[in-house]
Amino acid sequence: MKAKIEFTLNGKDVSVELEESKKLLWVLRTHFNLTGTKYGCGEGYCGACTVLINNSATRSCATTIGEVAGKDVVTIEGLARGEKLHPVQQAFADHDALQCGYCTPGMIMNAVGLLNDQPTPSREDIILGMEDNLCRCGAHNRILDAIEAAANEMQNGK
Ligand code: FES
Ligand code: FES
Repeated sequence: MKAKIEFTLNGKDVSVELEESKKLLWVLRTHFNLTGTKYGCGEGYCGACTVLINNSATRSCATTIGEVAGKDVVTIEGLARGEKLHPVQQAFADHDALQCGYCTPGMIMNAVGLLNDQPTPSREDIILGMEDNLCRCGAHNRILDAIEAAANEMQNGK
């Protein structure tokens, strides 16, 4: 049965009328046309579909639309402030932390969630925090470098 579900998406109040069991990933991609959130495994393993829900990195393929009622959802499209990229986005660009780019939105959203939880992470904290996000292109080391640089930038208030 369909239900009206209201939540905040990239800073705007939105509402949808859908089956509550529908996965957030598909609502974002097909209903809101926010295709930056990627489908990888569909089973919670790869991290390609990661978004922020109430500031925590969350697998959107494993989250129902019913679960986000009243919550704050941010996708890769909602991270920049106007023309200014989020420090994690900027660091990924500066460090060439991607090849094909398919894993990148999920990597960035997971990294932002990690830095929300741990603003001053060690290299080991970053490795641990990112180990469940998979990259088939072998960009992992540059991804870790980018996140480390972004953490430093953010600590310096940039
Ligand atoms: S698509 Fe969600 S974790 Fe892989
Ligand atoms: S850059 Fe291609 S999967 Fe990570």
